[in-house]
Amino acid sequence: MKVSNSQRWVIPLAISAFHISSTLAASSVGTNPLATEDQRDLDALAIDIYNSNDFPIVKAAARSAYQTAHGFPISSEALAGLDAAIEELTFSAVQKAVNSDPYYPKVYWVDAGPRTWFDLDVPGGRYSYDNPDCIYRTIPISSDVDYVVTGHRYGDGPTDTSFSLISNVNSQNTIAYLGNADLVVTSDGSYTITINSTSTSAPNHIQSKSSAKQLLIRNNIGDWNVEKPDRISVAAVSDVAGRKPITTDTIVASARANLAESTVTYGIGALGLKTYINNVNTLSEPSQSSTLGTLTSQASSFGHFKLSEEEALVATITPGAATYWVFPVTDPWSVTVDPGSSQISLNSKQAVANTNGTYTFVVSITDPGVYNWINTTGRHEGTTMVRWQGLLTASSDNSGVGIYVQVVPISVLNAVLPSETRYVTAKERAAQLAERSQGYSRRLNY
Ligand SMILES: *[C@@H]1O[C@H](CO)[C@@H](O)[C@H](O)[C@H]1NC(C)=O
Ligand SMILES: *[C@@H]1O[C@H](CO)[C@@H](O)[C@H](O)[C@H]1NC(C)=O
Ligand SMILES: *[C@@H]1O[C@H](CO)[C@@H](O)[C@H](O)[C@H]1NC(C)=O
Repeated sequence: MKVSNSQRWVIPLAISAFHISSTLAASSVGTNPLATEDQRDLDALAIDIYNSNDFPIVKAAARSAYQTAHGFPISSEALAGLDAAIEELTFSAVQKAVNSDPYYPKVYWVDAGPRTWFDLDVPGGRYSYDNPDCIYRTIPISSDVDYVVTGHRYGDGPTDTSFSLISNVNSQNTIAYLGNADLVVTSDGSYTITINSTSTSAPNHIQSKSSAKQLLIRNNIGDWNVEKPDRISVAAVSDVAGRKPITTDTIVASARANLAESTVTYGIGALGLKTYINNVNTLSEPSQSSTLGTLTSQASSFGHFKLSEEEALVATITPGAATYWVFPVTDPWSVTVDPGSSQISLNSKQAVANTNGTYTFVVSITDPGVYNWINTTGRHEGTTMVRWQGLLTASSDNSGVGIYVQVVPISVLNAVLPSETRYVTAKERAAQLAERSQGYSRRLNY
């Protein structure tokens, strides 16, 4: 028996229209590459499991590890966001668990903010520097099974796309990788990827290994108002007849294990050893790595900031060979705040360049009237992970990417910024934000 999900896309979701709440516009039914039946089923299951299990012990351990990573004392402003971050981390652990059956693989959009659709109030499941540009989707993988992943690209597709075969859904160690430059897409926008244990140089093939656990797909949306994530489906093409689907008990146990591992990987690892280890208001030298959740074709720079209302952090980045990059801020616990309504990030398609091709950003609490402003959402403290993508996976020279930061009083900002800096009027800022919100909200209505 073949288990195939590949035909599901052509079945309009209208057959179950009564499930779809008013917040999911009727026009998107059947056309939104994110609003699939599998997505609805997995969201419903994740909510059910999250609501019926509290995971008090692992949650307390996560809370404690995050606080230790931050270091003491912790301001009341920072502490106020901790529980919400741990709840999102918990929901993410459940989301990983509900789509972990490699014999019945589904495509699941995860690591996103809260939303209401399909009559479901889906909690946020963001963690460890969720990128507001990125649509993250997962497919469970076993090397015992042969898979075909079918994709459809709209127009030129997302600014960057990558398929990482990982051996651990929490630490996300990469064992095989297919990047945008190597993906072969036909002229009608379709592509087919094979995942199996065969060693071959065939295009769009990802060779599986016994340690394979998940395919992590990133679609980085540069222009939020134009680009759309690819439509993606998966089929297990080998014989999986007789395999019993995983039970609820297994899912709950796996969610608990994910949360415990997340505590180590994202709390002690990403937040502690990569972020708070740096001096405040500095950013680490960009570096590439295949471990700890970073994409192998990506260089990243981590840091944390602490600013008064009278200060700004000014950062200038050099894009180097990157085909996509993003400068975001996250809360003290590495989670984005209001990415749709606040300008908490700007990417290679959204920011304006300096004359020499570098990009300068102003991170501050109050709006300095600079086009490339990054809003700390009222927070005096936060974290950041700057990413440059589309680099060679084996690059050790960082492909020419760079970053320089300094903190200056807002009163002398104009003297510090490049003379070509673009400023905005209140009206222009409002227009910039309106465009951003509109672009972000497309995710539920593509
Ligand atoms: C494994 O992938 C290769 C390369 O795409 C393909 O030729 C082959 O048919 C696949 N094997 C199975 C059993 O799907
Ligand atoms: C900055 O972000 C905060 C929090 O989301 C928001 O309330 C505020 O309006 C934003 N400021 C501007 C000027 O966009
Ligand atoms: C490029 O321009 C920026 C802004 O003026 C400046 O800070 C930076 O040093 C320049 N970089 C180079 C390599 O000239």
